[in-house]
Amino acid sequence: MANILCIGAGHVGGPTMAVIAKNCPHHRVVVVDINEARIAAWQSDQLPIYEPGLAEVVLEARDRNLFFSTDTDRHIAEADIIFVSVNTPTKTFGQGAGRAADLQYWEKTARQIVENSTSPKVVVEKSTLPVRTAEAMERILNSNDKGLYFDVVSNPEFLAEGTAIRDMENPDRVLIGARETDSGQKAIEAIVDIYANWVPQERIITTNLWSSELSKLVANAFLAQRISSINAIANLCEKTEADVSEVAHAIGQDSRIGAKFLRASVGFGGSCFKKDILNLVYLCEHYNLPEVAAYWEQVVTMNEYQQTRFVSTMVTSMFNTVAGKRIAVFGAAFKANTGDTRESPALAVCRALIAEHAEVVITDPHALDNARRDLGDLAEQVSFEADPYRAAHEAHAIALLTEWPQFAALDYDKIHDSMIKPAFIFDGRNILDHRRLYAQGFNVYPIGKAPLTAFSPNGSVG
Ligand code: NAD
Ligand code: UGA
Repeated sequence: MANILCIGAGHVGGPTMAVIAKNCPHHRVVVVDINEARIAAWQSDQLPIYEPGLAEVVLEARDRNLFFSTDTDRHIAEADIIFVSVNTPTKTFGQGAGRAADLQYWEKTARQIVENSTSPKVVVEKSTLPVRTAEAMERILNSNDKGLYFDVVSNPEFLAEGTAIRDMENPDRVLIGARETDSGQKAIEAIVDIYANWVPQERIITTNLWSSELSKLVANAFLAQRISSINAIANLCEKTEADVSEVAHAIGQDSRIGAKFLRASVGFGGSCFKKDILNLVYLCEHYNLPEVAAYWEQVVTMNEYQQTRFVSTMVTSMFNTVAGKRIAVFGAAFKANTGDTRESPALAVCRALIAEHAEVVITDPHALDNARRDLGDLAEQVSFEADPYRAAHEAHAIALLTEWPQFAALDYDKIHDSMIKPAFIFDGRNILDHRRLYAQGFNVYPIGKAPLTAFSPNGSVG
C-alpha cells in the first residue's frame, strides 16, 4: 500500500486521482487544495467540474481509498508519493510576462513539501512545466537540513477535457521521466507500478527527465498546429469554393497525415494550448533560437486571426453593422462536453460583438455560470439564457461557437420562424446541416466553405 497525495484538485488533479484510486484500491489517495470551496464540492454530489463519467468514478472510490482535504501539511507528512498538479498559467508580470510559465504555485508547493516532510518522497510533476523545471525543483527540495532526499519524476498528463475519464482509463500512452540514476530509476518504477494496474506495459513510456517535460509541450504544440494549419486552409477554401471538410477528409486518409484533429473551427481554446505554445516560444527565445520561436508563435497568431476573421465575416455579411442587433451565441464552453470557458473562442467572439454594440445573448448547456463570471465586466451588454429557442427569439443572427451535439438537434424551422429576417447563422464549428438551413430560409456562413445566402450567387446551389 502506498500513500499517494495529489496537491491541486483541479481539472487534472481531481479526475486523474479518482481514476488512480478506482484502479488501485490497495493504495490510499488523498487530493488537497487551498481552495476550500473546491474541496467541499469534491466531497459533495455537485462536483466542481463537469466531465462525463467523472461522478461514477468518484462515487466508486470516495471514502474508500479516495479522500479530499484542505489539510495539505498533514497529508504531505503522511505521503510516500506526491503528485503536484497545481496551475501553471502564463506569467502576467515581470520577466517573460505574456509568454513564460508562472511557476510561483509550483515553487510554493515544493517548499511546503520540504517543510512538512519527515521521510524521503517521490515528487511527481503532473502540471505542465517548462523543460528543465525539475532541476530547480530538485535544488529546492534537496536543500534541506533534515538529510531527506526527494526524487523528482515527470509524469505529464495528456487527458483532454470532456473525455478525461476515457483518456485516463484507456490512454494512448503514459509518459514517465526521471534521472538516470539508481534512485531515479527506482522512482520511475514506483510510478510505473501505479499505472500498470490498468495500463498495458507497452503503453507506458519511460524516458529521461528532460524528454518527458519537453514532450508534453511538444504534444500540445503539434495538436494546436494541426488546428491552425486546417484553419489557415479554411480561409483559402472560402476564397476558392473548395470545401475544407472535403480537403480535410482527402488529406486525412493519408496515414502519414492521419484523420484526427483536422476540424476547421472558429479557433482552438482551452487553458493549455495557447499557454503551452507561448511557453515553448519563450524557451526557444531563452535558448537563442529566434527562428524556432517565430515558427511556433505563428500557431497562436493564426488562431487569433481565425477568431477576428469570424467576427469580421459576421459584421460584413450583416450589412456592415451589428449595432443594436440581438445575436444569439450558441455555446460558451471552449469545446463540447465541458463547462470550462478558459480561453474559449466563444467568449472572445462575444467580446468583439459587444465592442460592435451588438446585443449578445449566450446559451450553453453546462457553461453559463462560468461565462457569467468571465463576462462579469460586461454585465450590462450580455445576457444568458439556458433555452436556445428563447436565446434565438427575435435575434438577427445565431453564432454557433461550441460543438455541443444538442445544437445540431434543434428544430431550426421553429427557430427561423422566431427570428428577425433576414436570419443569419454562422456555424463556427461546421456541425449543422448547411444546405438544409439554407432551404429553411437562413443565410448560412460555415467555416471554410462557400456561404449559402440569398444575397450571393452561391445561394443558388441551395
Ligand atoms: P486548475 O486551475 O483547474 O487546478 C489547479 C488547482 O491547484 C486549483 O484548484 C488551485 O486552487 C490549486 N492550487 C494552486 N496552488 C496550490 C497550493 N499551493 N496548494 C494546493 N493547491 C493549490 O488547473 P488544471 O486545469 O487542473 O491544470 C493543472 C496543470 O495541469 C497545469 O499545469 C496544466 O497545464 C496541466 N494540464 C491541464 C489539463 C487540462 O485539461 N486542464 C490537461 C493536461 C495538463
Ligand atoms: C488538449 C490536448 O488534447 C490534451 O492532450 C492535453 O492534455 C490538454 O490540451 C492540456 O494539456 O490541457 P483540451 O484542451 O482539453 O486538451 O481539448 P482538445 O480536445 O485538445 O481541444 C482544444 C481546442 O481545440 C478546443 O477548443 C477544440 O474545440 C479545438 N479543436 C480541436 C478544433 O478546433 N479542431 C479540432 O480538430 C480539434
